Amino acid sequence: MSASTVPTPSSSPLPVAELHLHIEGTLEPELIFELASRNGIELPYRDVADLRARYEFTDLQSFLDLYYANMAVLVTEDDFAAMTTAYLRRAAGAGVRHAEIFIDPQAHLARGVDLATSIGGVARALSTSSADFGISTSLIAAFLRDQPAEDALAVLEDLIAMEAPIIGIGLDSAEVGHPPSKFTAVFDRARAAGLECVAHAGEEGPPGYISEALDVLKVSRIDHGIRAMEDDALVRRLVEEQVPMTVCPLSNVRLRAVTNLASHPLPRMLEAGLNVSIHSDDPSYFGGYLDDNLDQVVGTFAFDATTLAHLAANSVRSAFLSEQRKVELLAEIDAWLNGHHTATAP
Ligand code: ADE
Ligand code: ZN
Repeated sequence: MSASTVPTPSSSPLPVAELHLHIEGTLEPELIFELASRNGIELPYRDVADLRARYEFTDLQSFLDLYYANMAVLVTEDDFAAMTTAYLRRAAGAGVRHAEIFIDPQAHLARGVDLATSIGGVARALSTSSADFGISTSLIAAFLRDQPAEDALAVLEDLIAMEAPIIGIGLDSAEVGHPPSKFTAVFDRARAAGLECVAHAGEEGPPGYISEALDVLKVSRIDHGIRAMEDDALVRRLVEEQVPMTVCPLSNVRLRAVTNLASHPLPRMLEAGLNVSIHSDDPSYFGGYLDDNLDQVVGTFAFDATTLAHLAANSVRSAFLSEQRKVELLAEIDAWLNGHHTATAP
């Protein structure tokens, strides 16, 4: 075999940073039933198979409806911690060495679950992620763009006041009709408080939302961004500025942002010189964790080990991490690549 033979990342996990992961999107059907039973909640599904059968989405909103509904089973701090620990265990097996994790605090507040419970439970599990799973972690509070900006600002003030263990803020939920500029005041406030800023843009929304997120919200990362490929001038800008873009291939297929994986713009994004990395978004709902996303893009595009290592290195360089930790993780990726070349040498 030559070094260009299609690698099998799952047999020797590629060390990678997960930068686009909604913790509520890791709730597996089995855990949904377990938590429902623990909390005396009656689910509108017969069983796990019946729930799984509903994971057929037509667009982002059809997914969000189920995603928000299933959060009903998260009641206590222990529930949030259990969901987070289950994710970390699975992520460790996927090769994840660092994770920057989104939480949707407004979705929990709307159900009467306070910030101390949701943030506290996730943060408790994250606090031992290095010791328990060898994964460094941090938390990003995402605001729901289909809710009023005033509500987001009030929640941000509460998070700042309670010194919530977050490193930054994000912007998610239904994109079309909710441009980034709606949240200018929220992102100005977050930046003034020293928080990192990222935003979903160009998932279903137009390329103009990507420019707006950069120019108005001054984000340092774009989540998704695949619709940038419709605008050559924007692509040139994103390449020149090497803006990190957290691409989630299986999510884009399942939410029908693309027709199928073969037509996903990822190879064209790489060819154009964009700073892309691969992530899993809501792995329980979209048929795969980070390793599954890598396996499937390798299977579809026949990426070689060098391309996979490039994608992983982009994820590490795009992370909100100390230079020292980045150097450590980049060395792990180099070792993976060297091992792969050695293993496949003729
Ligand atoms: N919330 C959870 N997953 C999301 C996605 N893929 N896009 C927007 N908001 C989300
Ligand atoms: Zn997302």
